[in-house]
Amino acid sequence: MENRGTFGSKLAIILTTAGSAVGLGNIWRFPFMTGQNGGAAFILIYLGCVLILGIPGMISEFVVGRYSQSNAARAYGNVGFKRAKYIGYLGILTSTIILGFYAVVAGWCLQYLYASITGKLIGDTSYIIEYFKNFSSDPIRPCLWGVGFVLITHYVVAKGVNDGIERASKLLMPLLLILLVIIVIASCLLPGASKGIEFLLKPDFSKVSSNVFLEALGQAFFSLSLGTACLCTYASYFKKDTNLVKSATQIALLDSMIAILAGLMIFPAAFSVGVQPDSGPSLIFITLPNVFRQAFVGMPIIGFVIAILFYALLVFAALTSTISMHEIGTAFFHEELHLPRNKAAWILTTVCGLITIFCSLSVGAYSQIQVFGMSLMDFCDSLTAQIMLPTGAFFTSILIGWFVERKLVLNEFTNNGSLKATFFSAYLFSVKFIVPLCILLIFLHQFHII
Ligand code: PFF
Repeated sequence: MENRGTFGSKLAIILTTAGSAVGLGNIWRFPFMTGQNGGAAFILIYLGCVLILGIPGMISEFVVGRYSQSNAARAYGNVGFKRAKYIGYLGILTSTIILGFYAVVAGWCLQYLYASITGKLIGDTSYIIEYFKNFSSDPIRPCLWGVGFVLITHYVVAKGVNDGIERASKLLMPLLLILLVIIVIASCLLPGASKGIEFLLKPDFSKVSSNVFLEALGQAFFSLSLGTACLCTYASYFKKDTNLVKSATQIALLDSMIAILAGLMIFPAAFSVGVQPDSGPSLIFITLPNVFRQAFVGMPIIGFVIAILFYALLVFAALTSTISMHEIGTAFFHEELHLPRNKAAWILTTVCGLITIFCSLSVGAYSQIQVFGMSLMDFCDSLTAQIMLPTGAFFTSILIGWFVERKLVLNEFTNNGSLKATFFSAYLFSVKFIVPLCILLIFLHQFHII
């Protein structure tokens, strides 16, 4: 078989996999979910989901991917239970749909980066609202930016595992961290910022309903890229001496830390100019340009620079994630259809590009493109985050907990006995009982059965 490539170092593994995890989910979705669901109380529940369900889920996907060292469908079919390949197919389908609608928002970020550089975001509140309305209802421009984003992703993925994916992550992830820290400091130094910090750190449990648990779980899976076979695909490029447990923990911690930092970037600035934290998905396209303008009113040049850095940060974060979603399908078509990597990547690019166009139109010029009473874009978001991701994670857990030979799992967990098996029993108990049960309960609740 041809050499598939492996990530070059431990740092490369952390940066590429964290690159997949850290994305619009952290910087766009997490802050507005936190704003709508009670601030610190939501964060605590979210962290609980990451710890109890997220980390064991990540380890399970790592075990499947690293053991099999092949694309998602073959990897799942390889662990001793042939029909498990359908979990891999489900993951490939899920990540393709996510890439399709994710690229719409990523395209908006790219457009806003361009607009902030060319000074088009400077104006009063009504100008900024009008600007967003005009842009998002245009039938052509958002589609072009979205498809453009898919094409940039294609370019990186087609270059391969080391020259494309690893190289891009090694460049973009440190840049992302630096930009984030600069904006957090600028935001926290604003007058009145402490109210925003308090909102993030003081839990208000009165807002916690059972729905908040559902939102936190969906967000945790989405943010960790769990249930899409993405982690399984990336783990197929891990080395045999990679410590899977340590890597999963480090990546989950880094991902959660960046989500909280994103909150510390957005809320202090928003509170400092009296903007409510629960303004929803439009937070970064309407609220924030206003916040930057008002917060730095005496120093417009700083506001101008911060806006550019902010949209650059979003674009970098989105790109390292779209790369990982694209790679899942590309690796599959490349290995199963024996196509050259570039041709395999084109299949994904074409399908995702079409989904991007329809999703973009459904929230803009053609709002009549509806499924079950929602825009196609919202439908894809709910379908994947609330149904497909938890389903993928549920069956992966059942597979590892009940069907895969225990020795295989232990060997991957301990790198064939060279690491201690300290948490192995706790992990196995979790994937056998806790993870599937929690997902099941949440599902039943979602469909009003309990
Ligand atoms: N984890 C990414 C984010 O938080 O933005 C989204 C994501 C990436 C979901 C890769 C699924 C995936 F396969």
